[in-house]
Amino acid sequence: MAKYEIQGGKPLNGEVTISGAKNAVVAILPAAILVSGKCRIENVPNISDVRILLDILADMGVQITHEGGGTIVLDSTGVTKLNPNPELVRKMRASYYLMGALLSRFGQANVALPGGCNFASRPIDQHLKGFRALGAEVEETSDYVNLRPGVNGLHGNRVSLDVVSVGATANIIMAATLLPGQTIIENAAKEPHIVDLANFLNTMGARISGAGTDTVKIRGVEHLHGGTYAVIPDQIEAGTYLAAVAAAGGNVLVKNVIPKHMDCITSKLSEMGAKITNYDDCIRIESTGRLHQTTVKTRPYPGFPTDMQAQICVCMALASGTSRLTESVYETRFFGYCEELQDMGADILINGKTAIVTGTEDLHGTEVIARDLRAGAALVIAGLAAKGTTIVNNIHFVERGYENIIQKLTALGADIIRRDD
Ligand code: EPU
Repeated sequence: MAKYEIQGGKPLNGEVTISGAKNAVVAILPAAILVSGKCRIENVPNISDVRILLDILADMGVQITHEGGGTIVLDSTGVTKLNPNPELVRKMRASYYLMGALLSRFGQANVALPGGCNFASRPIDQHLKGFRALGAEVEETSDYVNLRPGVNGLHGNRVSLDVVSVGATANIIMAATLLPGQTIIENAAKEPHIVDLANFLNTMGARISGAGTDTVKIRGVEHLHGGTYAVIPDQIEAGTYLAAVAAAGGNVLVKNVIPKHMDCITSKLSEMGAKITNYDDCIRIESTGRLHQTTVKTRPYPGFPTDMQAQICVCMALASGTSRLTESVYETRFFGYCEELQDMGADILINGKTAIVTGTEDLHGTEVIARDLRAGAALVIAGLAAKGTTIVNNIHFVERGYENIIQKLTALGADIIRRDD
């Protein structure tokens, strides 16, 4: 099994360029099923979740051309298969977007329940509630979801989400795009990747407004046409590099970011003592002395993202004083990495939804196991900051969401290698 070996304690210096956003592209690629014609998608990261999704789409009959440099052309004209390969679907979470896309274009879908990082119970009841509101008959078994038109056919409708859900918001947007009438999603998620999906679909002729607010309106259109679209930079990848520099020290220009998307993260890092300078599309971080304690509560956007919980926890573990980290999206997420950080010398006490983190001057390297994508990223950061050698196992989780992580970190002066033994 592949692993990373990190010799820690070296500051990071130089420049790193952020890739396209994983959670945007994993929605946009299935959304290409809605398009009659070729869509050229730029800034697509080469990560394993994208490769799995492309395999699923190719198997369904989507013509895929790699133009190089992160540009992919998808042509969904010839899609015939409405039951995507279940083995591939179960390898990732975002395959649930195939449900909304197939329902909208073909009026039916038969999709296995998704897999992906299982750091918590991750229900999809709100997605199904939305499909039902749009007139679908939903049959759910222990491992499949079958969708077809109900007695009154498929049509736009009002859907009020019981919880703010990124996946449900994006899935309902896709499902409503080609249906007659207007759909209004209330209590919608506002994450940048929701806006990016809506911008992609609008570029192809959809009529979606309000994305980025808690009310999204979709006026159904008969068809979408081809076009070109560039995926936004990855807010969480950028946040991970910023946290790495904050924890390990150094001076790095993080390029290809949208600073506004980063405010919730950079404001915390600067509160902890890192110096942050925003430019138009890049951010410089300088971290010299010891970080200070802080308080963080994860929330849906524009709050501090749950996908940065583990990375900021490493910064807290090295800060002076006692920090409080409260998780309000996925309560069990701490269990993916806190024990591993404790093995590296961190002082973390978990009390329900809150981790009390008392900073220590040094973490020390040891052998650890990544249990999900962001937990794995946090262990890499801990390894970069720690004294001695850290071995991170199960790195397939990390490679789900971080393009060229070894090359990017090595260019910053990190001593990290990938071992395939
Ligand atoms: N929820 C429900 N019912 C649903 C859907 C969600 O109760 O039908 C609850 C969840 O249990 C959770 C909350 O609502 O407590 C938010 O879940 P959400 O649906 O927003 O999560 P998701 O769509 O499954 C996406 C990202 C995650 C990220 C979360 C929260 C993708 C593919 N995944 O998941 O990303 O943590 O939103 O922002 O977009 C990651 O990148 O590492 C990752 C896990």
